[in-house]
Amino acid sequence: MADFPKKLEFKLLERSNSDALRELQAVSKKVDFVSNDYLGMARNEEVFHGAHKLLVERGIIQNGATGSRLLSGNGQLYMEAESILCDYYTAEAALIFNSGYDANIGFFASIPQRTDVVFYDEYIHASIRDGIQMGNAKSYKFKHNDFKDLVSVIDRQKSSNNPNTEYYVVTEAVFSMDGDSPDISGLVSICNDQNCRLVIDEAHLIRGLGNSQLDVTKTDAAKDVLFARIVTFGKAMGIQGAVILGSDQLKTYLVNFARSFVYTTALPPMSIAAIVLAHQISSSNQGKEHKKLLNRNIKCFNDEVSALGLQNIFIPSTSAIHCGIIPGNDIVKKTAATLQKHGFDIRPILAPTIPEGQERLRFCLHSYNTPHEIKEVLSILANAINREIHV
Ligand SMILES: Cc1ncc(COP(=O)(O)O)c(C=O)c1O
Repeated sequence: MADFPKKLEFKLLERSNSDALRELQAVSKKVDFVSNDYLGMARNEEVFHGAHKLLVERGIIQNGATGSRLLSGNGQLYMEAESILCDYYTAEAALIFNSGYDANIGFFASIPQRTDVVFYDEYIHASIRDGIQMGNAKSYKFKHNDFKDLVSVIDRQKSSNNPNTEYYVVTEAVFSMDGDSPDISGLVSICNDQNCRLVIDEAHLIRGLGNSQLDVTKTDAAKDVLFARIVTFGKAMGIQGAVILGSDQLKTYLVNFARSFVYTTALPPMSIAAIVLAHQISSSNQGKEHKKLLNRNIKCFNDEVSALGLQNIFIPSTSAIHCGIIPGNDIVKKTAATLQKHGFDIRPILAPTIPEGQERLRFCLHSYNTPHEIKEVLSILANAINREIHV
């Protein structure tokens, strides 16, 4: 085997020295506060068996897509699934990608052009940053959820650009590393005032939790500015893949220019059948029941954080993602290890994934967590914090 280059070895050593070396761990049997399977859909038997039944009934006895959607991979089920997604998400057109990562790099590398400008929230997901970097447009960040800052960043750029410039504003409906959300209708009104096109990554938005203010399609004024939404299926839907929602023209453009769509084998029919079933179950009575349980757990978590006086650590959130800031890779890893020792699967989020000083424990809540588990894990956390960092 060839030598591993010294300069790469050095980079690994640097990671290790800063306590930030990423390592693969086997999936644990601990209480799940880490997965994105917010509604338990990844293990849902109706989705599993229903997807299989759908394929058998259609005579689709096929393991792989056999090629890109532009060649041999575009089975009838793909088009049906996209039509179902248009109805479910209230969109004119839908284009399925193999993952949210692929969707974001495909979109941001191909849509904003050389003379265009993208304004992005500083906490935007890595896949969006990567996509922007692959493209030719200029990009500027604004402070997290800070619209005053957004307007001043826009004003600064607008004075220096040519009249052909298109402006895009991109944010997340629920931030993956903070669990908080922007004021969507405020953002819509800024985009209207400033003539910007709005793009929203809805990866962590779970519809039906009483959070309709986060669904941009419910804001009337959005119709003139909403350009695209990216929804991923690996989180609350419990499966795999993603969709970009927008106009028919946007879809045609992406089919032609989004390289992560064009130059890859399409998702297998099993995944497409699972996408259909997961959306059916999610809007069924069973899906509503899971959402009710998740809402109960979110409330229980927030009540317990207050009861234990941990509000100064946790970022306020009414989503399924709750983050406790414990600065320093070393200390946050130690605190996570304490919780792990007690049987709870909670992972530390370390720098450089997030900025130094913002290291955190990220709790993902699920419909299948129990109030008892939530109370216990937070009580152990409160004790560990008192012992280890004396806040
Ligand atoms: C906000 C956001 N967008 C996109 C992605 C990528 O989605 P996927 O896991 O389907 O590649 C993620 C996943 O972590 C995410 O959190």
